[in-house]
Amino acid sequence: MQRTLIVDALASAQPQASLTVCGWIRTRRDAKGFCFVELNDGSCLANLQCIVDEGTPAHDALGDASTGASVAISGELVPSPGKGQAWELRAAEARVFGLADPESFPLQKKRHSDEFLRTIAHLRARTNKYGAAFRLRGEAARAVHDFFHQRRFTWVHTPILTGSDCEGAGEMFRVTTLPPGATNTADDFFGRPAHLTVSGQLEAEALALGLGRVYTFGPTFRAENSNTPRHAAEFWMIEPEMAFADLEDIMELGESLTRHVLDHVLTHCEADIRLFDAFVDKGLHQRLLDMLAQPFARVSYAEAVSILQNSGKKFAYPVAFGTDLQTEHERHLAEEHFKRPVFVYDYPKEIKAFYMKANDDGRTVAATDMLVPRIGELIGGSQREDDLQKLTARIEELGQKPEDYWWYLDLRRFGSVPHAGFGLGFERLLMLLTGIANIRDVLPFPRTPGSLEF
Ligand code: 4AD
Ligand code: MG
Repeated sequence: MQRTLIVDALASAQPQASLTVCGWIRTRRDAKGFCFVELNDGSCLANLQCIVDEGTPAHDALGDASTGASVAISGELVPSPGKGQAWELRAAEARVFGLADPESFPLQKKRHSDEFLRTIAHLRARTNKYGAAFRLRGEAARAVHDFFHQRRFTWVHTPILTGSDCEGAGEMFRVTTLPPGATNTADDFFGRPAHLTVSGQLEAEALALGLGRVYTFGPTFRAENSNTPRHAAEFWMIEPEMAFADLEDIMELGESLTRHVLDHVLTHCEADIRLFDAFVDKGLHQRLLDMLAQPFARVSYAEAVSILQNSGKKFAYPVAFGTDLQTEHERHLAEEHFKRPVFVYDYPKEIKAFYMKANDDGRTVAATDMLVPRIGELIGGSQREDDLQKLTARIEELGQKPEDYWWYLDLRRFGSVPHAGFGLGFERLLMLLTGIANIRDVLPFPRTPGSLEF
């Protein structure tokens, strides 16, 4: 089908005698002798205004096609006398692909609540806000790949079905082919328990200790039953892993990656960001510019605890050295104290995973979380314990069996090197970039407790 995208038509340098656009009618207004059709094809936020004169084949072909109908319209691209658009289409011919009954098509009004739109997730890509969100999602993903490509990282694909538990038990989805009621995992498909991955880190470490610099970018699953605006059961995580690298290196990497994506969407998704600024989160555009204008902050966990203790604020969860930071603490640090993203590093070992590198003080590990305003934790990472004896001892100390980690320990047995990496939650990054406050609205088809309609 010969077809011009609306984004290209609107960027045209000169009038065009004949072109065809295809899309969905956003609005149709009938006037005396002609009608206006606002057409959107998803290639950009803007609609192309089409003028369809009565008596043309186009007018006859359109019939009573209205909001939601899918059509092709051909005609002449001419300068638009109207405000806010450079070009409009003088329709000559048209074709209707599919009508949308005005009685039952749910997207008639201009604005709908996010809650309502979640119940029609299959249609919400046809609204301005969600079209913008999913377009920006694609652009941000492209920026992630560009960033790592520039730094010579290899994109690796770690398994989704896994026999290991990276982050500690209790929050994994089990995968089985056993009939209901059967419990003997020896009879199961893999002859042992299998789960959906909570992180590709352990496998990424193995690949980094051969390829040097790698990253994963793919779906990740967590069965934690936390119904919050920041948790999804299925989300996408970006996990770089670097050989010959330490904590400092991953803080630099995490900051540079965040800045790169931020800069990219400010350039390539300007209209979409302006829409979010106007209708989702006032002041977003300026806040994103401000975030780029200054370096991110860094503070040790111990200092962060004393900042929180001296903040004069009453938190629902009190803080002391050794407690895990809650979202309220994380947001206070990023939003109110530092007023920008902040890396907190050197956490007490008790609240972090077994694989993190022990610091010389004996009580902290070389871990870092990057906290951002409004959301809290966006990145979690660490330098990895590369000493065979220390790692084995830590696994035993936590009541686990070193044999279960035999291949992971092999990486420390043969040619071990200092290495480090992190995980960045892609949807949380999108929340930061769009101002969208609920993770359910940056995922096209969100999976959260009790919700699996689409
Ligand atoms: O801090 P987390 O649990 O770290 C890991 O899984 C490490 N193995 C990563 C690594 O070092 N390679 O998760 C990393 C990030 C979090 O900071 C958060 O942004 C995101 O993943 N995340 C979630 N995003 C949405 N929904 C959830 N349920 C999430 N859980 C974690
Ligand atoms: Mg974490």
